[in-house]
Amino acid sequence: GKKVVITAGPTYEKIDPVRFIGNYSSGKMGFALAEECAERGAEVVLVSGPVTLDVHHPNIRRIDVESAQEMYEAAKEAYTDADAGILCAAVADFTPDHAADHKIKREKDDLVLQLKPTQDIAASLGAIKKEGQILVGFALETNDEAANAQGKLQRKNFDFIVLNSLNDKGAGFRVDTNKITIIDHEGATPYPLKTKLEVAKDIIDRLTISMNK
Ligand code: C5P
Repeated sequence: GKKVVITAGPTYEKIDPVRFIGNYSSGKMGFALAEECAERGAEVVLVSGPVTLDVHHPNIRRIDVESAQEMYEAAKEAYTDADAGILCAAVADFTPDHAADHKIKREKDDLVLQLKPTQDIAASLGAIKKEGQILVGFALETNDEAANAQGKLQRKNFDFIVLNSLNDKGAGFRVDTNKITIIDHEGATPYPLKTKLEVAKDIIDRLTISMNK
């Protein structure tokens, strides 16, 4: 009976009509979370960047977006009356200052792309989070993992953050497994390497505790 908003996948930031800046996110973790929430009786809004995955459960409403700006608008609107938000998407932090109207031609000189920061969806939702609403973030780190995740937990007003490190074998982008540590305001709980489906169950178990508090 709860409404959960989940962001998943990468974003594509347009350079010209045929090129973009993207990242290696597959969307697998976010889609697994969406299925798990729906399986447990939630109404899910899944805001997804460009991925090659399908949704199975009828209680998942999928909104396909491309850019960080589109993801921001869809997620913000859906979060207004949601009970929880899980921000699993790998959102671009920078986007081209403007997209060229025509395909950029090869030249001898270097090409310089001017980038501007995107909206931080997590921080924006954290700022409008109301009493009773829960917000869960993700952090993929390559160094100083725990300290960086702790900083994000505070800055983005998350209830807890799911840390995965690119230093752990079998964790991170594209693979079907993940190794997480859940960090909340009380401390850190490490989990063993599991499939993303099993990891999704652990995360939703933890979410359920926050929602019942
Ligand atoms: O700061 P960093 O990008 O590592 O933070 C990761 C968390 O913030 C993830 O939950 C991610 O989905 C979210 N995020 C976001 N919008 C951005 C950048 C990150 O929602 N523009």
